[in-house]
Amino acid sequence: MRIEVRAARADDWPFVRDLWNRLDRILGPLWYITKPHGFGMPDMGEFFVAENDGALCGFSRVKRGRDGCWNLKQIGTAPDARRCGVARAMVAKLPRPCEVQTDEDNAGARRFYSATGWVYGGFVLPRNHGGRRKAVFYLT
Ligand SMILES: CC(C)(COP(=O)(O)OP(=O)(O)OC[C@H]1O[C@@H](n2cnc3c(N)ncnc32)[C@H](O)[C@@H]1OP(=O)(O)O)[C@@H](O)C(=O)NCCC(=O)NCCS
Repeated sequence: MRIEVRAARADDWPFVRDLWNRLDRILGPLWYITKPHGFGMPDMGEFFVAENDGALCGFSRVKRGRDGCWNLKQIGTAPDARRCGVARAMVAKLPRPCEVQTDEDNAGARRFYSATGWVYGGFVLPRNHGGRRKAVFYLT
């Protein structure tokens, strides 16, 4: 298994869109993409994809906040490629400092962040999130 992480290209979009749609309950819906692909749109931030021996198997998206800190907006690994270090490799390529918020009840994601160098920073209660809390992690 050889995992490589690189900036996404336009022809990666069908993979990213399909994985995002499969994980939309966790990652949030893709409803706000109206163009053929989301890469390069000003408000979408930057996408990275992971390949395992040349086959796409994961993606991440980051946006830079006004304070200069990056926000990890999404990270996902295809179900059949999990627990092989794909997301760990994507984290290694993230710009820093970086923050992520994940649903409090997403135990797998919380363990993943704790295992890949993120520091737990408490909870927030976002608006429009059904009164559910999110756990915050930082990568410095
Ligand atoms: C969370 C997610 C991105 C992890 O991807 P992954 O490629 O399987 O993660 P890795 O293989 O790099 O895991 C690295 C380490 O994190 C920890 N980890 C990862 N997933 C875990 C899980 N479900 N339960 C417990 N620990 C986990 C482990 O310590 C793992 O190392 P190990 O396999 O040697 O024990 C993946 O499960 C996923 O896509 N989930 C759905 C989307 C999601 O929840 N995204 C995050 C919230 S935005």
